[in-house]
Amino acid sequence: MATTLAGKTVLVVGGTSGIGYGVAEALAAQSAIVIVASSTQSKVDGAVQRLQKIAGEGAKVSGATVDARDEQSIKALVEGVGEVDHLVWTCGDLEMVGIHFPNIDSAVAKRAFDVRFWGAVYAAKYTKIKTGGSIVLTHGSSQMKPAKSWSVPAGVCGSVDALARGLAVDLAPIRVNAVAPGAVLTEMWDSIPTDMKNALLKGAAEQSLAKRVGTPQDVAEAYVFLMKCGFITGNTIHVDGGSMLV
Ligand SMILES: NC(=O)c1ccc[n+]([C@@H]2O[C@H](COP(=O)([O-])OP(=O)(O)OC[C@H]3O[C@@H](n4cnc5c(N)ncnc54)[C@H](OP(=O)(O)O)[C@@H]3O)[C@@H](O)[C@H]2O)c1
Repeated sequence: MATTLAGKTVLVVGGTSGIGYGVAEALAAQSAIVIVASSTQSKVDGAVQRLQKIAGEGAKVSGATVDARDEQSIKALVEGVGEVDHLVWTCGDLEMVGIHFPNIDSAVAKRAFDVRFWGAVYAAKYTKIKTGGSIVLTHGSSQMKPAKSWSVPAGVCGSVDALARGLAVDLAPIRVNAVAPGAVLTEMWDSIPTDMKNALLKGAAEQSLAKRVGTPQDVAEAYVFLMKCGFITGNTIHVDGGSMLV
């Protein structure tokens, strides 16, 4: 019988925008119990309202705030939510100044690990996952194919990739996997000037076999699969339009 996520409880940290929102949308449509979390109350409220409109029969949608840079805030979030079937970690912050090697600002470069790597470590440490459940982390294709000057973000991605494998060993039989997106059109890109954004996205589309950038819906399919398939752990799915082959 096909596995279903209906009735499963899933905490999506970073679920108020972009890829995480795409995952939350897929879950709500599949009648799961979805909790979206991020740092901004208005984004949490807005995401919950939008998700409630598309929720399938039996789905439940709620939200919470968390500062994913802060261990105690993550602990309070997951203790407040209680036991879940799956934890999805898509939250990430992007600082575009001070991150380009060799012109790095060390404080910015070190901060790049706070949410994506250390936040994921603390979430995995404190979240109570039910038997048969899983964790899905997020990194990116720059781990395998870094763009010029992108050594530090590539390092963040590589550390999360290795973290997923380490946690798969430490938390077994809880499964732990990751998704590595290529360029995906999300709100993340709004933080950079429009001209630069358009040029980067055009370049990313050209540097792929799909000849386009991804959508949150494209990538959400990988998270759904990793939650549903009980025989995959310690793995990464690359959803990048074939950019490794160009
Ligand atoms: N989009 C791409 O092209 C792409 C490609 C490869 C990898 N990725 C990675 O995929 C992940 C998701 O990216 P995205 O494009 O979906 O980004 P996004 O649209 O900017 O979403 C990021 C989410 O993280 C939350 N967040 C950020 N800082 C937080 C904090 N300190 N505490 C709690 N929540 C926080 C944001 O909400 P608040 O603002 O409310 O906190 C938001 O919900 C990131 O790690 C990104 O690096 C993205």
